[in-house]
Amino acid sequence: MSDARNGGSFRFVLIDGDELARVKIKQHLLSSGFRVIGETEDQKAGIRLIRGLHPDVIIMEIGADAGATLDVVRRLREELPTMGLILLSRDASPELILGSVRAGAHEFLTIPIDLTELDRAVERLRKMMAHMQTAQGRRGRTLAVYQTKGGVGSSSVATNLALSLLAEPERRVGLVDFNLQVGDLALMLDIEPEHTFARGIEDGTIDEAKLQTMLARHRSGLRLLTITDRPEESDLILRNHIPELFGLLNTMFDYVVVDVNRHLDERTLELLDLADTILLISTLDIPTIRNARRYVDLFERLEIPKERIRLIVNRFQEGTSITIRDLENTVGTEVFWSLPNEFRPMRAAIDSGNPVLLDSPRSRLARSYRELGAALCERPSEENGTPPNQDSLQSMQTSG
Ligand SMILES: Nc1ncnc2c1ncn2[C@@H]1O[C@H](COP(=O)(O)OP(=O)(O)OP(=O)(O)O)[C@@H](O)[C@H]1O
Ligand SMILES: [Mg+2]
Repeated sequence: MSDARNGGSFRFVLIDGDELARVKIKQHLLSSGFRVIGETEDQKAGIRLIRGLHPDVIIMEIGADAGATLDVVRRLREELPTMGLILLSRDASPELILGSVRAGAHEFLTIPIDLTELDRAVERLRKMMAHMQTAQGRRGRTLAVYQTKGGVGSSSVATNLALSLLAEPERRVGLVDFNLQVGDLALMLDIEPEHTFARGIEDGTIDEAKLQTMLARHRSGLRLLTITDRPEESDLILRNHIPELFGLLNTMFDYVVVDVNRHLDERTLELLDLADTILLISTLDIPTIRNARRYVDLFERLEIPKERIRLIVNRFQEGTSITIRDLENTVGTEVFWSLPNEFRPMRAAIDSGNPVLLDSPRSRLARSYRELGAALCERPSEENGTPPNQDSLQSMQTSG
C-alpha cells in the first residue's frame, strides 16, 4: 500500500477486546510504515491513552454495548475534532452503521477485518486529513538528534540545524534541550533561560500558555526549551509528560528539533518513539561506529521503523582510513548526510557565543548544515522513507 505510506507519520491507537485481531491489525499497520503508539483491550483505558497521546487515528471495536461506544465516539469527536476514527463491528446492520457515522466515525469495518478494506479506509482517511491539515495548519514534526557517543557533536548539529530551518521566514522552529542532567544549548546560543520545563511543571499540568513562558527567545527567532538546568530536578520529569509536551510543541511549531540526552531511560525512549525522524550522529572511528550499530539494533528491537532513522556522519574528513562505506557496512544503513570537520569556524563560534551558522555563514560547515536542513524538509523522501538518490547522496557527501 505505497499510497498509504505517504501518511507514514500517522500515529494509531488500537482499542479492541480481541487480542488476536489487535495483533493482526498492528502488524499490518507497522509493515505498512505506520506507527502504533498505543493499544489496549479496554475502552476506558483507551480513552485515557487517546487523551494523553493525541493519535492521528483511532481504530476502535464497538463493544457489546454499542450505545456506550457511540457515546464515547461522540465525546472524542468533540474533544479531538481532527482525529481519524475507524470503528469495527461484527454487527453490520444499517442502523449501527448510520449511528456510527452520526456519532462522528469516518469509517466502519466489519469483523473479521479484511486488511485490504482496512488499507482502503486508511487511504481515504489520509486524503481527508491531508485536506483538513492544509485548511487548519498542520502538525509540526519532531526531529530528534541522538548521539552515538559523547562528544560526537549532537548539540552543535541540533542547534545549527534548528537555525537552518528558519531559512523559511514563515516557519516556526523550536529547539529543545532534552538533557535530563544539565543542558548546554542555552550556553551555545548565549541566552539565559529564566525558566525550565522541570520547574514549570511542578504542579503537574502543562498547557500552551504555560509552555510559552518556559520558552527562551533567541534573536534569530528560534525558541529554546531547556528541560532542566539542575540535575536534582531531573526526577520531576515523568514519562507521561513527554507525549503531552511534544504533542503541544507540535501544535506551536512547524519543526521541533531536540538535542536528546544519550542516557536511555523511559523518558528518552518515549521521546525517541514519538519522534518523526531520529538523526543518529556518528563519527568515523571504531568505537563510535560500534555504538552506532548497537543503537540501530536497539531501535529495531524497539520496533522503531528504519525509515525514521537518518544516519549522519559528523566531522567528516577526506582520506581517513575508516570510510563512510565502512560505517554503512557495519551499521547496515545508508549514510544520509555527512558534515565536514571544520575546526576554525567551530572555534570562532565557541569564542563568539554564536553558532557556526550565524558566526561563519559562508563556511563549508554552515553550508552543509543548511543543505541538511533543506534535505530533511523534503517531505516526499522523508515521508516515504526512500533514501536520497545516488546522485544527490554523492553531492551531499562531497558537500560535506
Ligand atoms: N563539524 C565539526 N567540526 C569541528 N568540530 C566540531 C564539529 N562538530 C562538533 N565539533 C566540536 O566537537 C565538540 C563537541 O561538540 P558538541 O558539544 O556539539 O557535541 P555533543 O555530542 O553534544 O557532546 P556532549 O556529549 O558533551 O553533549 C565541540 O568542541 C565542538 O566544537
Ligand atoms: Mg551535547
